Amino acid sequence: MTTLASSDPVSPELRSAYDAQKLVPLWESGTTGFSQGGEQPRHWPWEAIGPILRETAHITVPSIVERRVLMMMNSTIPRNDAESCAGLVSAGVQALMPGEIARPHRHAMHALRFVLEGEGAETIVEGKACAMEPGDLVVTPGWAWHEHHNKGGKPTLWVDILDLAIHRAMRTDMFQPGPVNALRAVPADRAYGAAGIVPVGIEENEVARAGHTMMFRYPAGPAQAAAANAPQDQFGIRLARYVDPRNGGAIVPTIDCYLMQLEEAETAKARSLGAQLCVVVAGAGESDIDGTRIAWRRHDVFTIPRGATVVHRISEGPAQIFVASDIEIYRRLGQADGNDPALFAAV
Ligand SMILES: [Fe+2]
Repeated sequence: MTTLASSDPVSPELRSAYDAQKLVPLWESGTTGFSQGGEQPRHWPWEAIGPILRETAHITVPSIVERRVLMMMNSTIPRNDAESCAGLVSAGVQALMPGEIARPHRHAMHALRFVLEGEGAETIVEGKACAMEPGDLVVTPGWAWHEHHNKGGKPTLWVDILDLAIHRAMRTDMFQPGPVNALRAVPADRAYGAAGIVPVGIEENEVARAGHTMMFRYPAGPAQAAAANAPQDQFGIRLARYVDPRNGGAIVPTIDCYLMQLEEAETAKARSLGAQLCVVVAGAGESDIDGTRIAWRRHDVFTIPRGATVVHRISEGPAQIFVASDIEIYRRLGQADGNDPALFAAV
């Protein structure tokens, strides 16, 4: 009888010992590659998803009213188990009908709401009533109690933006239903009402220590004026950034938000430093994203993968686009271009 020589340098006895002790030889795992490659841009035209959301809004089963959100999925994102649609950013569209209430709850995820339509609705964040008018950004920091009330006469529709992916990875994606308890003391948004002036004496506050903005509502008007008056950068883009007024940094540690104004017929080609979730606030145009052309108009949502090259062209302007990006996570991990709050780099 002949015995074939084994090419395995690990003896069967040693391999059994690995198995018994739950040890895995790393050299057999292949090359470790962690590239984010593969993500493709996605587009949700409002003319397609608006009617779907409105029809869904007529379903009034209480358990659905509470969470009437249609998550936007991007199956091209590698290892996407968090319903992300742009890199590490998850988003959905939500509707709250007149008279409806989404009861209080809180969760570890930071959640942002960018309002598309409606009047008279509000989100109460850690006891602070934040109006939800079109173009407003309302911030619900992690573990802040929040509830939505539509006291107006029209449906209120908004884009929900969450940092679900990083919480899934960290096993911190926890949720707690109401009733509200142990509300923390937070200063009124009025305390931040004047640019260049911030309140003193809140640094020991539990919420302040959490490292996110204490101003929970960023109204449309000042943001739009800031974008319109920002200098044009080297790509032909005017960019305003939503910041924590206490330190000028991102409003939450995981998502950085901007309002971009486009008025040039075509921007210079730029590389996106992070993934971008884009919500068209005004105007119309098209974007060339790594060769994929997306024609957009008001209320459309589209995405730009991290590292993609981008050219924006407008057909109706000036155009304004709200951007939520995961770039802040990469900055904090030393994987972006320094602490610069830039969203784009030269190609
Ligand atoms: Fe929530």
